Amino acid sequence: MNARWFPPTRGAVAVTVTAVLALGTAVWAQGKWVAPPEAKNVKNPVAKSDKVVADAKKTVETNCVPCHGPKGLGDGPAAAALPVKPANWTSAAVQAETDGELFWKITNGRGPMPPWKHLPEKDRWGLVQYIRSLKK
Ligand code: HEC
Repeated sequence: MNARWFPPTRGAVAVTVTAVLALGTAVWAQGKWVAPPEAKNVKNPVAKSDKVVADAKKTVETNCVPCHGPKGLGDGPAAAALPVKPANWTSAAVQAETDGELFWKITNGRGPMPPWKHLPEKDRWGLVQYIRSLKK
């Protein structure tokens, strides 16, 4: 028997720790995406209007349709290549989230979903209104 594996070398320990962290991160990335509790009750400060939704639709066409699809079903042309599927905005799961949670996710992104912090805040709230307009 090769006695060198007992006790394990520092290198072996480091490799094991790295492997466990990588696996943990991979499992975490597949898990449900939950916005922090403080985001939940933030109200949409932008008054609802058709104009806001129409403007947001233009932003969506430029920025979101490649992944989320023309109808927000999560079936854009880039979706197939992604390891995590883009959300279907019309789904009960997405519609069940509060405006504050959707705003937080649009702002921060996760994995292949880019953060949209660089868009003005009122435009991000407009995007939330647009997603709401798709409710079945
Ligand atoms: C490069 C592809 C890509 C683009 C572009 C993109 N998204 Fe996403 N989006 C994703 C993916 C992938 C997820 C799922 C992420 C996850 O679950 O970890 C997602 C999730 C979301 C969610 C979360 C839904 C939920 O309830 O969990 C919202 C909201 C969203 N996107 C809005 C947008 C908006 C608005 C835009 C455009 C401004 C946009 N996305 C652009 C890929 C994209």
